[in-house]
Amino acid sequence: MSKAADDLDRWIRSDFVAMNTELEELYFARADRADVEGVGEAIKTRLAEEGRALIRPLAAEGNTNEGFDAAFDVLGNLGLFMAALRRHELTNPERETESPFREASALGLHIGASLGVTPRFATAHLTTHNAAIDGVQKSFTSLADEFVFIDYNTMGILAYKRAAAALMHVPPLGISNKATLMLLNNARDALADVAATNQILFDRLDADRFFYCVRPYYKPYRVGRQEYRGANAGDFSGINEIDLLLGLCRANDPSYSQLLIDKMLFMIPEDQRNLRDCLIRVPLLDSFLEAAPKASGKAWFRDNARAFLEVCEAHGRAAIQHHNQLFESFIVRMSGELDRKHHGQLTASGPPLPVLAKALERLRDLRAAAKRDDLETAHDKIEMLKRAAGL
Ligand code: HEM
Repeated sequence: MSKAADDLDRWIRSDFVAMNTELEELYFARADRADVEGVGEAIKTRLAEEGRALIRPLAAEGNTNEGFDAAFDVLGNLGLFMAALRRHELTNPERETESPFREASALGLHIGASLGVTPRFATAHLTTHNAAIDGVQKSFTSLADEFVFIDYNTMGILAYKRAAAALMHVPPLGISNKATLMLLNNARDALADVAATNQILFDRLDADRFFYCVRPYYKPYRVGRQEYRGANAGDFSGINEIDLLLGLCRANDPSYSQLLIDKMLFMIPEDQRNLRDCLIRVPLLDSFLEAAPKASGKAWFRDNARAFLEVCEAHGRAAIQHHNQLFESFIVRMSGELDRKHHGQLTASGPPLPVLAKALERLRDLRAAAKRDDLETAHDKIEMLKRAAGL
């Protein structure tokens, strides 16, 4: 790491966290906790000036070809800084046509373009690519609830990745292979781990602290002229690899493929490649159904189809939890008590909350293969397979 990159990293892990935490405590003590303008002005000015001074020499250096990890890390630090400026209303894409933070934008665009990722802070920066130093990983604040959020998001994402990796080994082995049974069981168990981390988030995360002091750092902001949507825990490919390999979501469903296109650059290049790879595979559900007429009485079919159905069920369970527990409690219910004047800033991707809720509901029902009159899900095919497997 260059000296300038190292200086920025040290600041992001120390004074930056202290200033954000101080500001959060000031906002949280107010009658309207979402009204942050005109509060803690001296701290905000210091935050912006110190960050700018550290970024100036880095912007002059540009991406100095020290490898993906180093460049992605600098992009993350830069992005955390810009997301904090957005959170403290020192910039707001609605009132500007260009980011007022020129050097940070220039460096973000340079690194983003060279790595093939979005030029803003993305989820991976705080989860799968967030190095801890002496037991402390990067964060915006030192609030206990932010660490709960980051830690269990990370563990949930890693568990999804484990499930996806197991399923990715299935196509070359085929559905009747003995090793496939092991892989399907691995995927099921990893998805049970997702459910466990979702449950911990639900039990331990304080809804007020999350809603008012953590989530606001995940808003959209501009880099240069363009506005980039906020980051969310879903910006990794594992969950979509599972959707597509199982056959619960289909790439030829335009709403679903729109989502894939939208999130592509928010993911690390390795995830982008994995996702592309899944788009050309035959879904396992289709392979099992195709084999059913000749194989339904055979032991391999009963065992492997049963294991496949257990993976589908585990995937659906985690999706239902995400929607009915996490989204419902930490976003929908909390938004109900928010002054209407703040509603425009509510979602990470921009659409009004009811529109976002409908889109997330659709994903939940696809993953759970729920019966819906207005939407084709895998429900009927799953029922057909259950019958063929004698379940
Ligand atoms: C407190 C916890 C969480 C809350 C409140 C929450 C809420 C949300 C919201 C509001 C969105 C839509 C983003 C937007 O466009 O504004 C979203 C998307 C998403 N989240 Fe979460 N989330 C949480 C944790 C997680 C975790 C732990 C995971 C996975 C490990 C996850 C996976 C996803 C995925 C994959 C998406 C993209 C849409 C989809 O494919 O379903 N979320 N979440």
